[in-house]
Amino acid sequence: MEALNLENVLLEIETLKNSVKEEINKCSGEGQLLAVQVKYLGRKSYLVSLTKKIKDLPDNIKPRVGKAINETKEYITKLLEEKKSEFSLSEKRKTRGAYDYTLPPRPFPIGHRHPITQTIKEIVEIFKTLGFSVYESNEIESDYYNFEALNIPQNHPARDMHDTFYLNLANPDKPAEKLLLRTHTSPGQIHIMEKLTPPIYVIIPGKVYRYEDIDTSHLPMFHQVEGLAVDKHITFCDLKSVIYIFIKSIFSEITDKEISIRFRPSYFPFVEPGVEVDMSCVFCAGSSRECNVCKNTGYLELLGAGMVHPEVFRHVGYDPESITGFAFGMGVERLAMLKYGIQDIRAFYENDIRFLEQF
Ligand code: FA5
Repeated sequence: MEALNLENVLLEIETLKNSVKEEINKCSGEGQLLAVQVKYLGRKSYLVSLTKKIKDLPDNIKPRVGKAINETKEYITKLLEEKKSEFSLSEKRKTRGAYDYTLPPRPFPIGHRHPITQTIKEIVEIFKTLGFSVYESNEIESDYYNFEALNIPQNHPARDMHDTFYLNLANPDKPAEKLLLRTHTSPGQIHIMEKLTPPIYVIIPGKVYRYEDIDTSHLPMFHQVEGLAVDKHITFCDLKSVIYIFIKSIFSEITDKEISIRFRPSYFPFVEPGVEVDMSCVFCAGSSRECNVCKNTGYLELLGAGMVHPEVFRHVGYDPESITGFAFGMGVERLAMLKYGIQDIRAFYENDIRFLEQF
């Protein structure tokens, strides 16, 4: 090498880097790669001879040339290693064989509907075949729709049955009144009757909220499906038939076990007469012996029902002399417990995938 000048040296190094890169790229085997390594990093390489000449360089450029040499060595070593690992990867592929693109993909788990959503869907399908339409109603309600229009005035003892979550939101129509989370789907009856004129055959599924102590059969949030039929000449007999047909359809797979259905007189201010409908407990087969679920009664309550109270019709401007109607409200989780043999209602919302996967 003639007179060493910094610019020339740096230029030569740059040219060398380009040639190394090109030569390494062209290598098709480990042998060729080794030859490149010897050529550019070996004892007789340009970089080694340049290193030997550093001592003769002026002091001010010595460090710059030294640094450039080291960086170039690192650069070449890295390129060599990358190429080597490329070779070993393709070697591995060769020994393992080529990919088989015709292999079917491995199945991967996909989700499905929650058991309660499935149950609601089944309920809805049954009522649709009976001629009912499906409506939704608000989860946030005013006192009027949740209680008053349903013949449950302020201070009525029936309000105790609905321990209520009041919201920190004022009712825009009555600023002095707080809004609440509906305690049942029955306010949907009022909204529907305000909008439609009879004949009305509707169901209203949805979430409801109550300030409840949680146990094996009580939740603070659960689902109900409300039913409402308003027409001329609707009788209690129609209500009973619809409920029977519904229960027999939804429990079609366990009819062998002889489901027994019981209508008990009950009180709901928005119906008269009112009933509660129970079904024989599938856990103790109605024997009522030491059963945690039915609390030794042999029956589990499924729904409340009755003939729409004339006072409710008056609230929505219907004439109770010319029309009649029935209504019912069922607890979906309770029904799903009976249908699937679940002993603890909390299981539906614990999000244990081993439980949910069974449906
Ligand atoms: C009502 O909510 C009435 N609105 C039903 C009704 C509608 C009566 C139309 C007449 C006419 P009740 O509070 O009993 O009624 O609740 C209805 C059903 O919801 C019960 O039969 C039960 O299946 C279910 N249920 C009640 N409380 C809970 C709870 N805390 N957790 C889970 N399910 C419940």
